[in-house]
Amino acid sequence: MSQVPVETTAALLREGVERLREAGSETPRLDAELLLGDAVGAGRTVILAHPDAPVGADAAARYRADLVRRAAGEPVAYLRGLKEFYGLAISVDRRALIPRPETERLVELAETEVMHRLGAGSRPSGTPPLRVVDVGTGSGAIAVALATVLRQRRALAFVEIVATDQSDDALGLARENAVGHAVADAIRFERADLLPGPAGAAGVPSFDVILANLPYVRHDAMPGLPVAASFEPQMALDGGVEGLDVITRLLARLPAALAEAGVALLEIGADQGEAIVERCGETLPGWSCLVERDLAGLPRVARIRRG
Ligand SMILES: C[S@@+](CC[C@H](N)C(=O)[O-])C[C@H]1O[C@@H](n2cnc3c(N)ncnc32)[C@H](O)[C@@H]1O
Repeated sequence: MSQVPVETTAALLREGVERLREAGSETPRLDAELLLGDAVGAGRTVILAHPDAPVGADAAARYRADLVRRAAGEPVAYLRGLKEFYGLAISVDRRALIPRPETERLVELAETEVMHRLGAGSRPSGTPPLRVVDVGTGSGAIAVALATVLRQRRALAFVEIVATDQSDDALGLARENAVGHAVADAIRFERADLLPGPAGAAGVPSFDVILANLPYVRHDAMPGLPVAASFEPQMALDGGVEGLDVITRLLARLPAALAEAGVALLEIGADQGEAIVERCGETLPGWSCLVERDLAGLPRVARIRRG
């Protein structure tokens, strides 16, 4: 009786790395390890520690199917259905942008800002909650990560978080992530053009902290993005002719939306530090705009407030 040869993790990894290298992946080994790990239901470290482990036919078939999709450019995060962000596993699929590591800087600044505003001592009863909005929430990564960390720091009860997007698909995914991380009751999701309520309408509540990672890629730079980005919603990336078009519309709404002593923290592209300061000067004369840098020293977040 002829026997079906047993495939090992090491042989499948070699095959995957070669295939993805040929296809032009910049990280063929990492991609193959993650995909094989998911196919066999084990972490990367387990895969690497057991090179001679046999892999079942179903797992090998699933792995090879994922290699084909990855070789065609589909992001590993969509194939796996998750992306690690701020220490959390955020579910991702084609409904929303895959959260980027750069955006963790925005969450870090938001966490510090909220904790600072809440103060060290206990809050007297009757003190209104701090109002935070995540504009263009996508997968919900920023709002969910912030809510999760505030819960760990026992501060979530003192904060109201709203998360908006103009995409119903993205909002659906964001809600799923909030449920998955047990913060759904702490975040109100709303379909809106930037901010809840019609622009400038009386009675639209003020926010103490406005967070946003809105699209900021220049329209003419879109075709030059890595092929993986073509699998993501284009309205999550395309920042219009100058890249800052959507952000500029948000700047124009800050006077009505930001509390008197509030702050807006807006993610920008690494080459947009000077442009955002200039744009703030034109749109919000008399306001202050400081550019926060990331660990690599690159401009990453604009910190905007009155005066
Ligand atoms: C760059 S993605 C960021 C998603 C998420 N905040 C993150 O950091 O991963 C931008 C998001 O803004 C949303 N968006 C674009 N224009 C918008 C608008 N005018 N109002 C509300 N959301 C908008 C897009 O649908 C997309 O989900």
